[in-house]
Amino acid sequence: MAELKLSHIYKKFGKVVAVGDFNIDVADGEFISFLGPSGCGKTTTLRMIAGFDKPTEGIITIGDREVSNAEKGFFLAPEKRGIGMVFQSYAVWPHMNVVDNVGYPLKIQNVPKEERLKRVMNMLELVHLKEYAERFPNQLSGGQQQRVALARALVAQPGLLLLDEPLSNLDAKLRESMRFEISAIQKELGITVIYVTHDQSEAMTMSDRIVVMSMGKVQQIGKPYDIYTNPANQMVADFIGLVNFIPAIAKGDRIFMQGSENISFPNPKQIAGNAVLAVRPENITISKTGGMVEGVMHHRFYMGDSVDYRIKVKEQFIRVIQKGSDYTAYHNGDKVFLDFENVMSFENEG
Ligand SMILES: Nc1ncnc2c1ncn2[C@@H]1O[C@H](COP(=O)(O)OP(=O)(O)OP(=O)(O)O)[C@@H](O)[C@H]1O
Ligand SMILES: [Mg+2]
Repeated sequence: MAELKLSHIYKKFGKVVAVGDFNIDVADGEFISFLGPSGCGKTTTLRMIAGFDKPTEGIITIGDREVSNAEKGFFLAPEKRGIGMVFQSYAVWPHMNVVDNVGYPLKIQNVPKEERLKRVMNMLELVHLKEYAERFPNQLSGGQQQRVALARALVAQPGLLLLDEPLSNLDAKLRESMRFEISAIQKELGITVIYVTHDQSEAMTMSDRIVVMSMGKVQQIGKPYDIYTNPANQMVADFIGLVNFIPAIAKGDRIFMQGSENISFPNPKQIAGNAVLAVRPENITISKTGGMVEGVMHHRFYMGDSVDYRIKVKEQFIRVIQKGSDYTAYHNGDKVFLDFENVMSFENEG
């Protein structure tokens, strides 16, 4: 069993608040991603869970065991936390073959040789590396080394697995197939996973829930669908997926598009004053005949399965992406009309 609970976790390095008031309850068997731009505190949080960094404040609980409590000055060493880990630079030991690399955690636990070999071979089967058992790391591809690191993290059957950008060194195709392999292994073993990434499609496809972070703060915790369709603030809307922000003014129940005051949208959050409307490029349709807003076709990028348009509306460029759109239907300089759907709204944060 490996639930994980972080309560009011802070990490300060001198004056730098790397992590500020991180709270989460992770259920047993859940797959959670930490997602956010570089420097937002993902690795620092993971290192505190692992026990490589001491929180400045707060309590960490794994299963029913407190592993770190800043107030009591209590701190359990990493090797006693029963955690598996794969870090960004997936260090596999170059002087050991695959079997020895994967078996190492069992060796330090003094697991007898025969049982060790059996468990290692089971793991290698799981990560599809059985035929590579005798090879050394320099005889393996990056993706295969990655899987060796994963097998090594899993061999001691941790309830909790921490992965810090484990696919960052792989090419796009391999990353995608590894995503599915990691998800499949996680489901098969029923382990709890914390997965750090700054790749949003990775987080979207693999996670039960995503934690979006920025500058040491948790911005939102939610299911991928909820985060995408109902982002908590402008930062989250901007970081997850593509979005057009349009300045607006909120008055009563409506939010008026700046510069086109006859166009307004509902104001469910009861924003007052300066606001921002946000609409994703796939939620805008273009037409020649009429619509909410008039603009001028400025640029068209043919993407194969879709067309990526830039349309100038007043002083602003609006991005529109349409699947299977006829690239030749519009020309640069054409007068066009736009209709918006699923328009989100935020307070103007600055
Ligand atoms: N040992 C340290 N001493 C001082 N500052 C640190 C230390 N470790 C991390 N930081 C700072 O804490 C902040 C968070 O760093 P962290 O490594 O957690 O970011 P991250 O989200 O993992 O970023 P990336 O996506 O680039 O890996 C950064 O501003 C970083 O410079
Ligand atoms: Mg990091």
